[in-house]
Amino acid sequence: MKILHYDEIDPQEAFMLNINALWWPLTPSRVEDLIKYDDRWSSDSLLYAVDKGKIVSQVVGLRIPTKTTDGEELSLGVAGVASHPSHKRRGFSTILMKELHDRSADEGMRLSFLLTRSSFVAYPLYVKLGYRDAVDVPRCTKPLIRRKKPKESILRKFRKKDVRDLDKVFERFSRDLYGHVLRQKNYFDWRLKISDSLKAMIYIVETKDGVGGYIVKRQLGADIFVQEMVVTAKKNMDRMFREIECGDKGDYITVLPLGGRKQIDYVGSRGYMTDEHSWEKVMVAPLKKSLAYKEISRMYGLKDGKFCLLGLDEF
Ligand SMILES: CC(C)(COP(=O)(O)OP(=O)(O)OC[C@H]1O[C@@H](n2cnc3c(N)ncnc32)[C@H](O)[C@@H]1OP(=O)(O)O)[C@@H](O)C(=O)NCCC(=O)NCCS
Repeated sequence: MKILHYDEIDPQEAFMLNINALWWPLTPSRVEDLIKYDDRWSSDSLLYAVDKGKIVSQVVGLRIPTKTTDGEELSLGVAGVASHPSHKRRGFSTILMKELHDRSADEGMRLSFLLTRSSFVAYPLYVKLGYRDAVDVPRCTKPLIRRKKPKESILRKFRKKDVRDLDKVFERFSRDLYGHVLRQKNYFDWRLKISDSLKAMIYIVETKDGVGGYIVKRQLGADIFVQEMVVTAKKNMDRMFREIECGDKGDYITVLPLGGRKQIDYVGSRGYMTDEHSWEKVMVAPLKKSLAYKEISRMYGLKDGKFCLLGLDEF
């Protein structure tokens, strides 16, 4: 068995594996775009286990700068974990993950994050490799209210010239949070370049003083899903929620408040049914024995609800 990079394997075979295992359409031009625009990606991000000329397993390793109580910490972000069904349970994912961990530790990285569901068969693999649940991805739901939207709307559609304001507002919003909050320069520029559908999902919170925040929301049928909200002032949150909670059709509005405990408490105070126990998890593992979980928890304010990994920063 050999361990190879993306430029050494057949991209069509890799595409097939990703569609098969993850329903992820990883085409050569997508890989090129990710490496070109997303600073977390590089040409060595994709690792493959190749056995007798066939791709049998894949793992993606990203270099992600994170914010801790002590400053900046470059962490590993693991994604794209997949084995071919013909080669399952033969230890290939374990070999690739261990190889990635060793390479990252050699580069000086001390810990690794990943996103998964505890209902997936991959969960015991991660636990065996030393990963533990860091936070659950909460879900909060409320019935839509049958009333007219307020006359003065605080939300408007996204315009191209908003990108700088969005970067600035995220910086203000994330000042007292830790985790995946160190977005690269001109973040929205590249984010919009690699996602065709995102533009239509961003709504700007427009106040008399300028851009006060944004939300990323989409309709699922007539119901509303808020995937990310970055609004700095409570009065603007109040106005925004009064507006988005109204619907003449649909049953529920669902919010994923991933911006720390403050967001969960806020939606709770608005009467949302909140389930903090979810199948969807952010997991973390030390890459160096000297780093204890307790220390990781302190670094990222896990117990104080200060950890943040918003929808757009998922990997
Ligand atoms: C999850 C997945 C990547 C595992 O790949 P793999 O090469 O078979 O993994 P390994 O052989 O290294 O398995 C290591 C351990 O993981 C656990 N594991 C793997 N597959 C499992 C399964 N089907 N049921 C229960 N545990 C499983 C076991 O603890 C296993 O150790 P063991 O065989 O000694 O008991 C593979 O099943 C897959 O591609 N699944 C679909 C895609 C996916 O869910 N990816 C993860 C997204 S977060």
